[in-house]
Amino acid sequence: MKTVVITGSARGLGFELAKNFKKSDFNVVLSDINEENLKKAVDDLKAFGGSGDVLGVKCNVSVLADVEALCDAAVKKFGSLDYWVNNAGVNQPEKAAWELDEKEIDFLINVDLKGAINGSNVAVRQFVKQGYGKVFNVEGFGSNDAYQPNLVMYGTAKRAVTYFTNALANEINVHELNIQVGKLSPGIMITSFLTSSNGKDGSVKLSDKVKKVYNILGDYPDVIAEHLVKKMLVNKKNGERIEWLTGGKAFWRFMTAGFNKRNFFED
Ligand SMILES: NC(=O)c1ccc[n+]([C@@H]2O[C@H](COP(=O)([O-])OP(=O)(O)OC[C@H]3O[C@@H](n4cnc5c(N)ncnc54)[C@H](O)[C@@H]3O)[C@@H](O)[C@H]2O)c1
Repeated sequence: MKTVVITGSARGLGFELAKNFKKSDFNVVLSDINEENLKKAVDDLKAFGGSGDVLGVKCNVSVLADVEALCDAAVKKFGSLDYWVNNAGVNQPEKAAWELDEKEIDFLINVDLKGAINGSNVAVRQFVKQGYGKVFNVEGFGSNDAYQPNLVMYGTAKRAVTYFTNALANEINVHELNIQVGKLSPGIMITSFLTSSNGKDGSVKLSDKVKKVYNILGDYPDVIAEHLVKKMLVNKKNGERIEWLTGGKAFWRFMTAGFNKRNFFED
């Protein structure tokens, strides 16, 4: 039986990815910094379909020792790992780059960038030992070099995650390893993330203009996760980017927005 480790998987995209792997008969290792949500997610996933087992491990992706302990616990329980998804992430406070204080910058970079680096390095070390494995990093706004006020630090981190993942995939090729490194691009997801910043839920207030765009381009994470996992399971290429909101899909959404009213933000 195959095994997947997913960081930040107590809720949102991470939990939906977990459900899809479980449905495909994987053992699933859930992990999150939020212990209370993690416990609930483990119980919920155990009750979900699929023949695999579920393990929950508390882990702060910013701390290398935590990520190493997550890997050790997963290997101890299931023997080896097939997939590892670096999904944990936090949004930035609604502030210009120069308004963020040092603590806020450190927090965001440590979760969104260093977390993905920690997870990738620990996963690849394990995959080198095993002789196989696949690691995916979750991209976000900025990964494609787009700019937007109040998202400069988040975009900087996600742009760097994309660079790191591409460069790591190249390094894997140069070393001729039987390992895949890839990116997941989920588009805009209707999750608590949109109204959170630096780990604090409800701290971002969405303007009507932003809500309008999210209503056109956004989707709930269950739909997106189903698509991403399907593609991950058949992907054979190192360095692949698996995308939900393609340019074509976004164009079509804007063209048909008048006939297809959606409101994710109704009270
Ligand atoms: N929501 C969106 O529109 C969107 C769009 C593009 C990319 N993303 C990215 O997708 C990923 C998942 O986002 P989501 O919308 O499901 O968010 P979410 O806030 O619903 O879930 C994120 C999870 O990560 C956990 N987490 C936060 N810091 C952590 C840490 N230091 N260590 C371990 N776990 C930690 C949280 O507790 C939470 O359970 C993130 O990487 C995010 O940047 C989100």
